[in-house]
Amino acid sequence: MPSSAPLRVLVTGAAGQIGYAVVLQIAKGDVFGNDQPIVLVLLDIPPLAAALEGVKLELQDCALPTLHGVEAVTDEAAGFKDIDYAFLIGAMPRKEGMERKDLLAANVRIFKSQGQALANHSKPTVKVLVVGNPANTNALVAAKYAAGKIPEQNFSAMTRLDHNRAAAQIALKVGVPVGNVKNVTIWGNHSSTQFPDASHAKVVKDGNEIDAISAINDNSWVQGDFISTVQKRGGVIIEKRKLSSAMSAAKAACDHMRDWHFGTPSGQHVSMAIVSDGSYGVPKGLVYSFPVTVDGSSKQWKIVQGLKIDDFAQSKLNATTKELEEERDDALAACEESKQ
Ligand code: NAD
Ligand code: LMR
Repeated sequence: MPSSAPLRVLVTGAAGQIGYAVVLQIAKGDVFGNDQPIVLVLLDIPPLAAALEGVKLELQDCALPTLHGVEAVTDEAAGFKDIDYAFLIGAMPRKEGMERKDLLAANVRIFKSQGQALANHSKPTVKVLVVGNPANTNALVAAKYAAGKIPEQNFSAMTRLDHNRAAAQIALKVGVPVGNVKNVTIWGNHSSTQFPDASHAKVVKDGNEIDAISAINDNSWVQGDFISTVQKRGGVIIEKRKLSSAMSAAKAACDHMRDWHFGTPSGQHVSMAIVSDGSYGVPKGLVYSFPVTVDGSSKQWKIVQGLKIDDFAQSKLNATTKELEEERDDALAACEESKQ
């Protein structure tokens, strides 16, 4: 039987397609465990109040022992009140032919306002995952507007979908189940400049753990199609579905938060976009995807240090840094213009 006090977990954009896919996974214990009661707070915009209410009713009808309450709200102050974990998904998705940064002007104001709402209403220990695109820069904006109340270490953006995509591509190439692949890394932005890096990954093949690079044995693939497939995967999904990824995005959001809550397995790192502390020469303050481990008791992440970065990798790190600096400057200018 569930024992501890319920966690208050916020999902924004809960009437949208990722929202619909994510709430069941959270509610049934995939993220916080089967013994942890939760109260789910669903936030969307006022025109979607009825759809949101429908999601709430369906969640009640799931009769889940871990779900101790569902609140459907369209007001930020109510939505962010006393929150322990926030999945910030609500934002406009891109359409065919767009880059994610084309969403900046439309979405950045949402994250300015939600940064302020986090500061004013949520617990200071709240852990925040930004999914809405452009995710890294939206997280930077939310952290900036919550500064002084909520530590910047509590903000993250989602590159776990890219991480999962990279592991899946290696598994397909080597011919092993994806569970046999660990320690891939996504560096930088959740965009087409990201650097999916197989060079520190391991693969279990025929019962032995070996370097993924040896198992793959095809350097032109590692430096070519592997990288471009992961970089462009979101666009390919949009081209085929005419909608952006939702099932895989929801699964990745749950993976990200589960590892933050419980910690990463021993000997394994995951990719999280977090506020740079200057590691690997990445300018401080950018929200940049790094290889991280998480200690489950303190719920603090640490950037894995000392990974070898060769000239090829360095040029990739630099390119995604440059894009993030440009996005940051554009976003902060847009925030200045927005009066709220
Ligand atoms: P969607 O259009 O189906 O749903 C978005 C929902 O957000 C809508 O219900 C909308 O009303 C709501 N919303 C808009 N503004 C809001 C606000 N201020 N407060 C609360 N809710 C608000 O979109 P989706 O497919 O669910 O995608 C959501 C976002 O996630 C998009 O920006 C998309 O590009 C992004 N995304 C990111 C990743 C990633 O890996 N980081 C992966 C997939 C999608
Ligand atoms: C993805 O990676 O699938 C999402 O960020 C959606 C997109 O716009 O590509």
